[in-house]
Amino acid sequence: PVFVASAKAPVNIATLKYWGKRDTKLNLPTNSSISVTLSTDDLAAYTTATASPAYKDDSLVLNGIPEPIEQSARLSACLRELRALRAALEQADSSLPPLSSYHVHVFSKNNFPTAAGLASSAAGFAALVRAVANLFELPQSPEELSRIARQGSGSACRSLMGGFVGWEMGSKDDGSDSLAVQIAPKSHWPTIKAAILVISAQKKDISSTSGMQTTVKTSSLFQHRIQNVVPRRYEEMKNAILNHDFELFATLTMADSNQFHAVCLDSMPPIFYMNDASRQAIRAVEELNRAAGKTIAAYTFDAGPNCVIYYQQEDEQAVLGLLRTAVPDADKWTSTNASASLLHGY
Ligand code: DP6
Repeated sequence: PVFVASAKAPVNIATLKYWGKRDTKLNLPTNSSISVTLSTDDLAAYTTATASPAYKDDSLVLNGIPEPIEQSARLSACLRELRALRAALEQADSSLPPLSSYHVHVFSKNNFPTAAGLASSAAGFAALVRAVANLFELPQSPEELSRIARQGSGSACRSLMGGFVGWEMGSKDDGSDSLAVQIAPKSHWPTIKAAILVISAQKKDISSTSGMQTTVKTSSLFQHRIQNVVPRRYEEMKNAILNHDFELFATLTMADSNQFHAVCLDSMPPIFYMNDASRQAIRAVEELNRAAGKTIAAYTFDAGPNCVIYYQQEDEQAVLGLLRTAVPDADKWTSTNASASLLHGY
């Protein structure tokens, strides 16, 4: 027999950035973080997992290309944890098929440009964990599964639930309290939207995993960030979301993106993720907010030059209109914008 289950997981974009690990094996972070889930079908990872006593080994096929599974410690960690949960179920109920002893084949694809640096690993690992959890009929909640997805990629833990999501760093060495929690569902604030300005589809120079280690080791500004800034900002941003306070949410989001890129610059050797076009997008948003007389848009950048802009539905014309004219690389913006209408939503 072959047992089959599928799952889909969305991309999330952090508004309070995860940057730094206190445990590189378990992906335990040095600070809590917050993200908004981009809940459009056009930006998601789709995964099917199958298990069979006939399989000789575990395997992973990503966008049609077989991946060398034995090299991926992250994937093995997720499968090991999921199998342990399944084994506990089988022990309690001997009528269940012994899936925990079968090898698993995983097929995953995403429908957005992986190279565009749009958090593909977050959606990918979240979909993988959800699909295998479905296959094993695990009763665990999204919070509990987030503990497993985190071991695939830290930011993946925030892609197991929709809406506004917090990842609480936790303090235990085994990571059992380092989990994602939903701050509010999408329906709490349905008018928030995101547009993605693809400035470069090139792969980033320095992976998040190695970049953040350089920062942890070398940046003194980073110590200030994790000790004095993020703990308070986490509470402030959470409350801004709960109170539908867009101006505060937007201001904190931009400040946090800027500080994240500042600690990258404060690392040795320095890490540059933004480029001239990124800075142009920042200036365009600043100008937009100045002209509006209030903060109607917020930019944020992850470990790459591409810009995500959060705004409210009522300001869509103003936001997309100005960016189209202000960002000089008109071709890219226009073509991106065609997909941006696909891409926005949250
Ligand atoms: C800048 O989750 O990709 O996007 O845990 O090593 O897989 P690993 O790193 P990853 O880092 C994401 C960093 C970020 C900020 C964020 O998403 O919070």
